Amino acid sequence: MSDTDRLLDSLFSALDWSRLGAIYCDEGGDAFWAARRRSVLKLGRAWGRALAGRLTRGGTSLYVGAGVAELPAMLIETRELGRRVVASNLRAEECAVLDAGLRAVEVLPEELSILPVDARTLLGRGPFDHLAVVSALTDPETWPVVSAVTYGRMPPVLLDLTGFAAEREAILALTSSLCAALTLPAWITTTGDETPWFVHVARARGLELQPDDEMIETAVVGDPIGFLRVANA
Ligand SMILES: C[S@@+](CC[C@H](N)C(=O)[O-])C[C@H]1O[C@@H](n2cnc3c(N)ncnc32)[C@H](O)[C@@H]1O
Repeated sequence: MSDTDRLLDSLFSALDWSRLGAIYCDEGGDAFWAARRRSVLKLGRAWGRALAGRLTRGGTSLYVGAGVAELPAMLIETRELGRRVVASNLRAEECAVLDAGLRAVEVLPEELSILPVDARTLLGRGPFDHLAVVSALTDPETWPVVSAVTYGRMPPVLLDLTGFAAEREAILALTSSLCAALTLPAWITTTGDETPWFVHVARARGLELQPDDEMIETAVVGDPIGFLRVANA
């Protein structure tokens, strides 16, 4: 077992799962995490190993909407791949719980902090050669209409067209500014449902996206993730 594996085991023991349960679920939070904790760790390690085959030492990653699922990959990046990680999540309470867990296992804030801010405020910390956007553009709290459309929860007749147009423009502006902060070649870790946003803005910015074949399951939201290589068209 590597030092990073031991650190991840300690971190997953140190996290306040009861508070995380209340953040992720209206009810049944303890059962939610009891059913997922092991898989989150296992699949997070698989994500980190997949990044090891793609990312170069010395680069910087931006994680948008980083939660429990991202912890293993982020620490594999900093500990094993010699990279810098910048991470944010709009849920301030979740950031506080994740940061408390990190400090409990003596990960310094300089190494990893999940900041309770919009990822756009962190773009100046780039350039980034890896973006991780996993189930963030489909987040029901942030994008209620787009989320409902993406996951097929909204009968078309009930669609709030004004709300949809506003969210669509906001997501296009967000993904466009994320792509503008990339140094090429770069990688994007994202889900199949979020990929079309990146394809759309990449085309407009003269970038080429090449998806590769590897897909990894996730255990929190449950959307499988894959990797898009970004280069000039
Ligand atoms: C459904 S959760 C997914 C969390 C985690 N990525 C996972 O897969 O388990 C979506 C998260 O994205 C965050 N988010 C959405 N837009 C964001 C933005 N512009 N900047 C930072 N976080 C964002 C939300 O705050 C929320 O915590």
